[in-house]
Amino acid sequence: MRVLVTGGAGFIGSHIVDDLVALGHDVVVVDDLDPAAHDGVPAGLNDSATYHWADIRDPATFANGVLDDVDAVSHQAAKVGLGVDFADAGEYVSRNEGGTATLLEALHARDFRGRIALASSMVVYGEGRYHCAEHGVVRPGPRAIDDLEAGRFEPRCPACSGALEAECVPESHRLDPRNVYATTKLGQELLCTAYARQHAGASVTALRYHNVYGPRMPRDTPYAGVASIFRSAYEQGAAPRVFEDGGQTRDFVHVRDVATANVLALTNAEPSDGAFNICSGSPRTILDMANALRPDGAPPPEVVGGYRLGDVRHVFASPAEATQRLGFTARIPFDDGFAEFATAPLRTAVAPRP
Ligand code: UD1
Repeated sequence: MRVLVTGGAGFIGSHIVDDLVALGHDVVVVDDLDPAAHDGVPAGLNDSATYHWADIRDPATFANGVLDDVDAVSHQAAKVGLGVDFADAGEYVSRNEGGTATLLEALHARDFRGRIALASSMVVYGEGRYHCAEHGVVRPGPRAIDDLEAGRFEPRCPACSGALEAECVPESHRLDPRNVYATTKLGQELLCTAYARQHAGASVTALRYHNVYGPRMPRDTPYAGVASIFRSAYEQGAAPRVFEDGGQTRDFVHVRDVATANVLALTNAEPSDGAFNICSGSPRTILDMANALRPDGAPPPEVVGGYRLGDVRHVFASPAEATQRLGFTARIPFDDGFAEFATAPLRTAVAPRP
């Protein structure tokens, strides 16, 4: 099969390329080596894939045979993370939704009716799911600044202000994207779904990644997740700075497991339309993660308190739906994965941007 991987030079995309090549597929990559994420051509790219250093927002990218004979698409190209501030909004919308629209237009021009595996994110849910002993499942709104300032980090029941217990977020959870990045991930899901609806035979599997970590993760940037930020701190001999009280819960899933989920979505005997939580099923606190990543002799993580407005407190999920419908199970346990990641290379450039 011939597979287009957008963002195939990136952290997750490059692992997907490796897996597809290992399975004997013909892989075409489109990646613009966005300067916000890349210093140049990254180390470790798979030689067996064909690379086009081009922007998916530019229709000309797809006018030179890139899509010829493509059977399936793994759409990973996106601007990730929280960004610097709201001035990033246009860039997120342009890269993520605009880029997806241009890609879909090009697929439409070729009457593409194959599978699309889309990199989505658990950020589409906003806060996780919470249970109140008295009111059952409830939906707390964003945490109040007064509470955060006072060190009250746990969301409270909107009905009785009582304590809540966090639960797994099911795929059917109400979607509540709370920052620009999250809205663009949801936008990408909706655009791809609209494409599939209007092109009989096409299908879309939206993979809602939880917190992905592992080799080739970019270094600490405004766009990096917490695992990369902490890894970069240790590398510089510094203690990671843990916000709130460190009790925030996330599901850390290894990048090789995420690549497997993508490959299953593209190659299973039957397509799996819909959205899936791609997670390990073993949630941990941010402080646990900081400790698991700590190299021998490194300073212990520092719980500095404070908060980032817009951060959610707990979000984790069960991979049950992905297991049942995609055949996906994360294989790399938290302790093994973080022991490896503690010394695994972060992304480095080996050549200037062409
Ligand atoms: C992250 C990504 C999001 C991605 C999602 C799923 C970012 C900013 N967020 O969301 O794009 O879709 O995973 O893969 O990339 N923290 C610290 N110290 C720090 C930085 C963060 O304690 O120096 C804490 C935060 O307060 C937060 C937690 O770590 O509670 C997770 O932060 P982060 O990884 O940035 O964001 P997520 O919401 O998990």
